[in-house]
Amino acid sequence: MLSLTTSYPEVMVDLVLQLQRLLVTKEKKKYFMKFRLSLSVAMAFRLHLVLIFSCINLICLSSQQETRFVYNGFDQADLFVDGLAKILPGGLLQLTNTTELQTGHAFFKQPFDFGPPESLSFYTHFVCALVPPKLGADGGHGIAFVVSPSMNLSHAYSTQYLGIFNSSTNGTSSSYLLAIELDTVKTIEFNELEKAHVGIDVNNPISVESARPSYFSNALGKNISINLLSGEPIQVWVDYDGALLNVSLAPIEIQKPNRPLLSRAINLSEIFQDKMFVGFAAATGILTSNQYILGWSFSRSKELLQTLDLSKLTQAPLPRDERNNLSYVLIGLVILLVILILIVLGGLYWYRKNKYAEVREPWEKEYGPHRHSYKSLYEATNGFGEDGLVGKGGFGEVYKGTMPQGKQIAVKRLSHDAEQGMEQFVAEVVTMGSLQHRNLVPLLGYCRRKGELLLVSEYMPNGSLDQYLFNHQNPPPSWFQRISILKDIASGLNYMHTGPNPAVLHRDIKASNVMLDSEFNGRLGDFGMARFHDPRGNLSATAVVGTIGYMAPELITTGTSTKTDVYAFGAFILEVTCGRRPVEPELPVERHYLVKWVLECWKQASLLETRDPRLGGEFLSEEVEMVLKLGLLCTNGAPESRPAMGQVMQYLSRDLPLPEFSPDTPGIGAFMPVSMETSSIIGVPNSSIPMFVTHTILGGHGR
Ligand SMILES: *[C@@H]1O[C@H](CO)[C@@H](O)[C@H](O)[C@H]1NC(C)=O
Ligand SMILES: *[C@@H]1O[C@H](CO)[C@@H](O)[C@H](O)[C@H]1NC(C)=O
Ligand SMILES: *[C@@H]1O[C@H](CO)[C@@H](O)[C@H](O)[C@H]1NC(C)=O
Ligand SMILES: *[C@@H]1O[C@H](CO)[C@@H](O)[C@H](O)[C@H]1NC(C)=O
Ligand SMILES: *[C@@H]1O[C@H](CO)[C@@H](O)[C@H](O)[C@H]1NC(C)=O
Repeated sequence: MLSLTTSYPEVMVDLVLQLQRLLVTKEKKKYFMKFRLSLSVAMAFRLHLVLIFSCINLICLSSQQETRFVYNGFDQADLFVDGLAKILPGGLLQLTNTTELQTGHAFFKQPFDFGPPESLSFYTHFVCALVPPKLGADGGHGIAFVVSPSMNLSHAYSTQYLGIFNSSTNGTSSSYLLAIELDTVKTIEFNELEKAHVGIDVNNPISVESARPSYFSNALGKNISINLLSGEPIQVWVDYDGALLNVSLAPIEIQKPNRPLLSRAINLSEIFQDKMFVGFAAATGILTSNQYILGWSFSRSKELLQTLDLSKLTQAPLPRDERNNLSYVLIGLVILLVILILIVLGGLYWYRKNKYAEVREPWEKEYGPHRHSYKSLYEATNGFGEDGLVGKGGFGEVYKGTMPQGKQIAVKRLSHDAEQGMEQFVAEVVTMGSLQHRNLVPLLGYCRRKGELLLVSEYMPNGSLDQYLFNHQNPPPSWFQRISILKDIASGLNYMHTGPNPAVLHRDIKASNVMLDSEFNGRLGDFGMARFHDPRGNLSATAVVGTIGYMAPELITTGTSTKTDVYAFGAFILEVTCGRRPVEPELPVERHYLVKWVLECWKQASLLETRDPRLGGEFLSEEVEMVLKLGLLCTNGAPESRPAMGQVMQYLSRDLPLPEFSPDTPGIGAFMPVSMETSSIIGVPNSSIPMFVTHTILGGHGR
């Protein structure tokens, strides 16, 4: 590498460069720069001398005491520490923990020479973190960068004295102390105006200069405040060039501000002694903080100040933020609670929705007023409880209920699977609801659910007539009551046949469908639906339905008409008068069929014998006989021979005498029990099960 042609100085420079490459460490680099500088200057004089001088210079530099140091963490640092101060594994320098009223100090063990021939300047850059016990809470008391003649500050007090001063050093100039404080507690006796402040203290805890912690943002061109107690690392620069003392702060991610926070002209030669130690002091009071130094660089000259490698610094541990944790737990709990409530509400909603679910179809709109909500019926009947059950049969159950206004209702629950014909059926129900007659049980409305139809009618407190006729626990109705009920029913039926247009048929007149109101008036009702008995689930209006014994023979052939109702009414007359059902297979053969038996008795002139034995003696024989004959007249086999209901009313009230007829008159007593084998007939023979009223609107005919 050395060329013979190269001149001596060139060889020298080359040598030096090689030497430099060999020796180069980051630390030494600048020395060599300096060395090269001095070398080039010296080259202007005598090169030999230069070499010697340079060597001396080099030796001198290395033998001289340290003028700078850098700690990117304090793992290997040999520091003087006292009080609470200690170096934590990981390299953090902890000045205080959260023990109250304590101090902590850490000093670089070698003093620096601030004696007269030396320049007084010094430059330092450190990173600290003040972590209060709870983030966002107050902490205390603060830390300070200290230049002190002694490492022993054991006489110093904690709290506002920051472990630097005590009450007697307060105000004396004999302390020879400089401190740059980062104070987090306001001390009124020190004229501290801000709670958290940065101050320059000279021999005295009362700052000669202080400011609210902030930094000048080079990028934004304005001051931005810093929260000393954020727990985040804060960079601090203290620069003294011999005349001006500048202090700058910045968050860890921000570069050194172009403008210092504090700038103060101070002649430190009046304060410093020859040997001064540099280090940190910190104190706690009643308020405490974990106070850390993360990294520290110090130098006597600006150029030689080594940069801190911020990426190498160990983070100060932040407190487990209990408040936040608590609030997270709270938030979690609240969310959980909300979810639970939602689930419960959802379940409840679902349950209620199911509980009160109804079937509603568009065609029902026009029946709005007649439509009852299931919920209202559910509530009226106390949830269809056992104690509200007033009747039970093959069709379903009847419940007594009370509407909110106090009105008593009967709710009949009919199970059905038939949707076919439901629209027409509901139309009829609604039509029936519009029938207003004192001898009809008012139908108030209906409600539809899946597989269920509910019919709401007025509640009849005295039940149905059959319970008085056949249940021997109840007193038998007197003849007067019976004739009166017969008149009532005739009147109601007459209204149905002649009042509305088209006429409405009942189709299932019998004692169990005759209800008694509070005054014991007969009311045709129990608006159950015979068609719910149709095993085929057929709700067609033309289905042959009724009860055996009340069904006119022509039902199978020509179907229903007002005359089939008259036939049933005839059977009902006999039932009421004789106190037995139209068909009773348990009785002796000659009595099986009521119509035939009554006719036989008439033939044998013992018509009156057929009367109900429970009737007692209080009756008019002629009247009973007339009524029995009227029963036979109405059950005439030929529909055209039966009287209309209007006439029946007149016969009953004896406004009109019965037409002349004898047991031999054709059709009379021609009881032809509607063949029970006929599968097309839906009926229940004289059952104790309440049977159903079936009303059919006839298309105009049948008047
Ligand atoms: C205050 O500190 C000085 C040393 O700085 C010490 O000599 C003096 O005794 C201390 N005073 C008290 C009251 O502790
Ligand atoms: C202190 O700051 C001022 C600007 O405010 C600057 O002119 C001066 O050079 C700084 N001194 C040192 C020692 O950094
Ligand atoms: C920023 O802070 C410095 C030092 O405290 C102050 O002198 C200066 O006026 C402030 N500038 C603004 C814009 O507030
Ligand atoms: C500082 O004080 C010393 C001693 O009082 C004095 O000699 C020196 O000139 C002062 N320096 C400045 C910059 O004022
Ligand atoms: C019919 O009901 C009314 C009212 O509930 C009552 O006062 C009367 O005694 C009942 N009549 C019979 C015969 O039960």
